[in-house]
Amino acid sequence: MTAAATAPSSSPPGPGPGPQVEGDDIETCGGVKESRQAGTSAIHPSLVFIHLFSLAFLILVLTAQFFLTDIKFHYSRIFSSHPFSRTISSPPAVIVHEPVCESPQPFPTAPPVSRVHTMALAEETKRITAQFEYTDDDVNKGVQEFLRQMHEGLDKDGTSMSQIVTYVTGVPNGTEKGLYLAVDLGGTNFRVCSINLNGDSTFNLTYSKVAVPKELMVAKKAEDLFGFLARQIELFLKEHHEEHFEASIRRRQTISAEDGYEDEEIFRLGFTFSFPVMQFGINKGTLIRWTKGFDIPDAVGKDVCALLQQEIDKLRLPVKVAALVNDTVGTLMARSYTSPGKTSTLLGAIFGTGTNGAYVEKLANIHKPITGEYNQSTGEMVINTEWGSFDNQLNVLPNTKWDAELDRDSVNPGIQIFEKRVSGMFLGEIVRLALVSMLKDPKISLFRDVNSSSNDWKSTTTIAKDSGIFEQWGLDSSVMSIAAADHTPEYSILRQELENELKIYSASKEDAQAFKHVSCAVGRRAARLSAVAVGAIVLQSGKLKTDEDPIDIGVDGSLVEHYPFFRDMIYEALAVIDGIGPEGAKRIRIGIAKDGSGVGAALIALVAANMEKKDSADRLTTVKEEAVRKLSNVIPGVGEKTTLA
Ligand code: BGC
Repeated sequence: MTAAATAPSSSPPGPGPGPQVEGDDIETCGGVKESRQAGTSAIHPSLVFIHLFSLAFLILVLTAQFFLTDIKFHYSRIFSSHPFSRTISSPPAVIVHEPVCESPQPFPTAPPVSRVHTMALAEETKRITAQFEYTDDDVNKGVQEFLRQMHEGLDKDGTSMSQIVTYVTGVPNGTEKGLYLAVDLGGTNFRVCSINLNGDSTFNLTYSKVAVPKELMVAKKAEDLFGFLARQIELFLKEHHEEHFEASIRRRQTISAEDGYEDEEIFRLGFTFSFPVMQFGINKGTLIRWTKGFDIPDAVGKDVCALLQQEIDKLRLPVKVAALVNDTVGTLMARSYTSPGKTSTLLGAIFGTGTNGAYVEKLANIHKPITGEYNQSTGEMVINTEWGSFDNQLNVLPNTKWDAELDRDSVNPGIQIFEKRVSGMFLGEIVRLALVSMLKDPKISLFRDVNSSSNDWKSTTTIAKDSGIFEQWGLDSSVMSIAAADHTPEYSILRQELENELKIYSASKEDAQAFKHVSCAVGRRAARLSAVAVGAIVLQSGKLKTDEDPIDIGVDGSLVEHYPFFRDMIYEALAVIDGIGPEGAKRIRIGIAKDGSGVGAALIALVAANMEKKDSADRLTTVKEEAVRKLSNVIPGVGEKTTLA
């Protein structure tokens, strides 16, 4: 303290007399300031004596203390080896034989301290991640093969990439209006929605979602699944569109209507059915095969719209299945309806539970026959590539032992080979299989407590017997997103997730690091493979050679939405593709088309309704023309005879 406070001489608070020239302020416990005087002008002889005496006394005390300490030290060393000994310098210790809490704080306050990655684990992790590397060269080889298989699919049926014609010959521009129903069977969930298209690129959507019961995914009969879907539509209408559900406007069976039902005042429904279907009309198509864990052989080869309509009619709902839509086609339509600017969207793609893409192709490039009616005026048609089955023959796709193992144990071995390396349903399983092979190796210290016992949580790593790590499909891909996003120094978020999701308790930092590396390698490969598909379609469109800017792509699905930097990794790979390059990649705009499939299905239902109107208008015109022709036969010209045809 340096504050200079001068106290009055009449009331000296200090020990010595004399004038006080300076004082140090001292803050007391109570915060009150005292003044300590310093300095004297003359020293009294008695004071000198007192000081000398005090000094001698102090030296004596210090010397005595030094000797005592030394003795205590020696004694304690000598006596401590004796079983009945006690130190002489302290009272006997009281030892309480009770459990001792080594960490007295309720929660550890310091982060765990771990040793560097143990070599075996580090080496093995490196060896495994290297197998998931997908180089720039691989990307380019992939693109060339993708283009080849695309063309093959446009030339003939029965190829690995189906290149399904969808009968959708144009994309919307945002001015479409109306209220439509849409249902979406895409994987684990079934969604029912009603969509009001406002005509200004906006829409209002009401929806309900229900998980598809596992037993129905592998039901014996198609009607078990489709009956369930129809009942969900009924529930939705009751809850959200009571006005349309009144008995008075239920579908009336009539003999006058072509399909036996009066079609007035009914909902047009777009049916998003996200499985490979051979389409032969806007609301007609037979199921080629099931994917994503579904397996109901009874439905294969049947018209899925008819299967749904039958069940809807059993419940006499005021609903007509007007359009059959793949989720990628829906995504493409929705993106086109809502996307900013005048550019129409080229591609709608899903990177979710499954993966696939639908794009706009020139009719001139489709060489296989297109049966049935469609509007040829646009010169284009949307093609559902079913790219999940790209390169089922493994000409260029990577095939680690874990990829092969996953395929071998799946419900559809040899099929959807591209999807099995790209989509959310499979990525977690690839990671799991790679980790299990590490776990099986006794030389690798993954989740073995070798690391975690050396950290100061003093915990033991344990994996519960029923951990997902030991079960097929037991590792959800969402854990991979958490791993990729965890940049905390100790991977604390991921380690918590390993506990919550996989019941792996007290994993070490090194375990989490190994998990993250393997998982990121699998995720990165998936993104680069996705770029192969996107890049090939951009090249096929020829749009990079025109001035059209940007090249718009709508994407949806949990992977592209939630996996950190998935889109960035796609861009990075697009930039290395011959014919695209960094400049071309910049012209590609990949945007999320959230809930695309529902909105898209509504838009296609609208197109279908317009086609129906045009159809009936055409039919009416034909009938009128026919009547006129007949009448003109009836009304004879001068001197002519007449007959009724
Ligand atoms: C299906 C496609 C679908 C994709 C995304 C694939 O398994 O075969 O039809 O578009 O998943 O849902």
